[in-house]
Amino acid sequence: MSLLSEIKNRFTSVLADYADDVEPLLAMLKPSQDEKFGDYQLNCAMPIGKKSKRPPREVAGEIVAKVDLDGLCEKVEIAGPGFINLTLDKNFVTSQVKSALADERLGVTPCPNPQTVIIDFSSPNVAKPMHVGHIRSTVIGDSLAKIMRFLGHNVITDNHLGDWGTQFGMIIYGYKNFANAEKYEAAPVLELSTIYRYVRRLMDYFEKKASQPRLEAELLTLKEKVAELESAEHENEKAAKKAAKNLKSLKNKIASVEGATASLADYFVTTANDSDFSNDLEKHKDIAQAVLLETAKLHEGDAENVALWNEFMPHCQDEIQRVYARLDIEFDHTFGESHYHSMLGDVVEDFKTKGIAEESEGALCVFLDGFEAPMIIQKRDGAFLYSTTDLATIKFRMDKWKPDAVLYVVDHRQSDHFDKLFAAARKWGYSGPDFFHCSFGTVMGEDGKPYKTRSGDTIGLEGLLNRAVEEAHTLVNEVNEKRPEAERLTSDECKDVANVIGLGGLKYADLSQHRSSDYVFSYEKMLALKGDTAPYVQYSYARVYGIFRKGDFEPNTQDVSATKLMLENPAERSLAIKLLRFEEALSDILTEYKPNLLTGYLFELSQLFASFFEQCPVLKAETEELKQSRFLLCDLTARVIKQGLSLLGIQVRQKM
Ligand code: ARG
Repeated sequence: MSLLSEIKNRFTSVLADYADDVEPLLAMLKPSQDEKFGDYQLNCAMPIGKKSKRPPREVAGEIVAKVDLDGLCEKVEIAGPGFINLTLDKNFVTSQVKSALADERLGVTPCPNPQTVIIDFSSPNVAKPMHVGHIRSTVIGDSLAKIMRFLGHNVITDNHLGDWGTQFGMIIYGYKNFANAEKYEAAPVLELSTIYRYVRRLMDYFEKKASQPRLEAELLTLKEKVAELESAEHENEKAAKKAAKNLKSLKNKIASVEGATASLADYFVTTANDSDFSNDLEKHKDIAQAVLLETAKLHEGDAENVALWNEFMPHCQDEIQRVYARLDIEFDHTFGESHYHSMLGDVVEDFKTKGIAEESEGALCVFLDGFEAPMIIQKRDGAFLYSTTDLATIKFRMDKWKPDAVLYVVDHRQSDHFDKLFAAARKWGYSGPDFFHCSFGTVMGEDGKPYKTRSGDTIGLEGLLNRAVEEAHTLVNEVNEKRPEAERLTSDECKDVANVIGLGGLKYADLSQHRSSDYVFSYEKMLALKGDTAPYVQYSYARVYGIFRKGDFEPNTQDVSATKLMLENPAERSLAIKLLRFEEALSDILTEYKPNLLTGYLFELSQLFASFFEQCPVLKAETEELKQSRFLLCDLTARVIKQGLSLLGIQVRQKM
């Protein structure tokens, strides 16, 4: 049950007297910011008054006189210019809390019109170890899938692995030329990634070499412009000022190009001193071409390259699977890019026959309204692209699952790709489903740059998980040692709790960010016991179980309907109402696919639980009746926390 919808239902017919479309008016019903304004506030009297040229307070009075809030609200007040403040009826609240307690779904009703939703997430390019950049897509996608499933939608998760791109050309080329058989035998993916990086390094060298003359030419042009400006005579003061401004900006540009030239020169000196690398540069002058050729050969079915691909893939799969297992992430499907290879020709043909792709400078392009550059679906040399595969994927998914919505949980740098992809798909005839790029920001280091190790390599995801668990372990041990002996956790329990807190902390830190912002990665912050963190919420759960243990209370055993629920203390009442808002929090997430609304809810719930805990003694409650009532509130709190965290892929423990 959603409190918000219950109240809205009562107002719907009344507001129909004031507008044809009542939705925008109903949308003005919000939880109150402050308890003194009741539990909910409806602000629609102001716009209605403005439109009908009537005093809003008068409109508010009229609405209040008409609406029937019997059994739902015990107090309705008109405040200020015409705010309608609503206070929920105590009996209604108690009865709803009781039904939530008796309900496995904690009072959350499945949505009446379930949608079929595909979530494309994680989708790493394999053959390189997963890095910090993959954490966001993986945890955001997984939590959205869990939340939507819980709300009753038909969710299909698909890991669109990058298992067919140029990186395989690089690895195949590298394997043929640089592989160390022994190392490959011992740790295949590690060796493959070393090979990948080495090939990347060689290719970078040639790219840098090619950029040198461009930089020099640019410098020359800039200097000529400066000389021209400096010798020019100016008609008046205004022109002189403008010229001085131009001159300044040109000089800044020169400084930055000179900086780039200098660091390039440094780079060439360093590489020249590396004789092995220099030798390889000499031997692999055409590496960029060669890599493309290896990729093309793989795509054309060359026996040797296909055999290598088949050999590498299981190792790559094992590697990512290890990370998924630790993070407790599963997919319904893993149709990687390679799955679509045989369909790409037909997709391109279809675009041609339907007249929505045209040739431009030898490449096959889809021109789209509102975009300067077209979407290329086939290169001049016949090669297909990332976008061609994504189009084939859309067709495949539409044929197979007929989704109402498709979410792509991919970082914000690909937004142009997805904007074009969705436009092209609509042009192609897929106008039905709601395609949504669920984009997210970058994980930053404390230095304000994308998170990297000191050597400059992005951090492997496994290393990151290990470190989070290690740091959590230290913390758990510290807390544990301070406990009286009888209450201490065993060393196995400490390990288990460290795992739950470490991985939970990492996921929560990511999910609690507004997904489009960048955020700073900090172990200290993610594991803090106070504040908006997993450990804080997880500890609230454990605290409830601490109370249960001390009070010999066995949840799920008492007769809820026979127990009286008392909400006299304001802290009890606020906690109860927050618990009833669980469904509201979950439904809100789906409007913009923002899991941080759930972490926010759980954090606030934990804070309210903390004030309840401070103000309302449970074990020492004045009467046995009150104690039982408080046990029930504790129980529902623990269950909502457990369910809520599990929708974020985070576990809890009764003892921490
Ligand atoms: N493999 C891609 C990358 O790492 C992400 C794929 C996202 N999904 C998609 N359907 N394009 O950048």
